[in-house]
Amino acid sequence: VIAFFQRKVLAGRRVVVTAGPTFEALDPIRGITNHSSGKMGFAIARAAREAGAQVTLVAGPVSLATPRGVARVNVKSAREMLAATQAAVPDADVFVATAAVADWRPVAEADQKIKKDGSGAAPTVAFAENPDILATVAQGERARNGALFCVGFAAESHDLVAHAKAKRERKGIPLLVGNIGPLTFGQDDNQLLLVDAQGVRELPRASKLVLARQLVAEIAARMAASH
Ligand code: CTP
Ligand code: CA
Repeated sequence: VIAFFQRKVLAGRRVVVTAGPTFEALDPIRGITNHSSGKMGFAIARAAREAGAQVTLVAGPVSLATPRGVARVNVKSAREMLAATQAAVPDADVFVATAAVADWRPVAEADQKIKKDGSGAAPTVAFAENPDILATVAQGERARNGALFCVGFAAESHDLVAHAKAKRERKGIPLLVGNIGPLTFGQDDNQLLLVDAQGVRELPRASKLVLARQLVAEIAARMAASH
């Protein structure tokens, strides 16, 4: 009912959202992941759909229902997430990266379960850096000439404002959203900081869906202003 009365600020637009953690396999049984629930990204996908957009949600392993009317692509690893995202962004107008992408993956995935050898020695795992999906997309031509509006998220444990400002510039994106601590994995509410070229603005604590709707409105306003 509420959605019905919302203004369709993204009508005719295509939006791609990454959400959830990634899972980086060590062997067929085990892997490295993190506590991301995917709730913020799923809420943004839902809000963008409510606002009239055609939405593709690239989701890592999470146990959440797909928002109504949203096209979902399930992935596990960061490299799969990058491939699915690159397949979706060429005709998109907005890219919102909420995924908690694993920064590193085990260099090798064992074909078989790694077994204890009885000596008490623990295996050593070598890691390789994963691709930065947001930075890769933001460096593309359509993002650089303003045809694809890129939004990043950052969860920091300390010095949020300074880190968020630096991260926005490093990634080359117009808008970075900071999760204001304490870290809210799996919670239904959140508190956000919007960091753009003009400065910093707070979205006070609210449910992730309410914040997602506010963020969608902010994105639409910035797109209108830049055209
Ligand atoms: N991101 C991404 N691909 C990665 C790492 C991050 O797309 N390999 C995106 C996240 O989805 C988020 C933004 O980049 O929108 C910031 O992620 P974050 O982990 O805070 O930044 P990093 O650049 O990885 O730096 P660090 O973890 O060292 O703070
Ligand atoms: Ca990271």
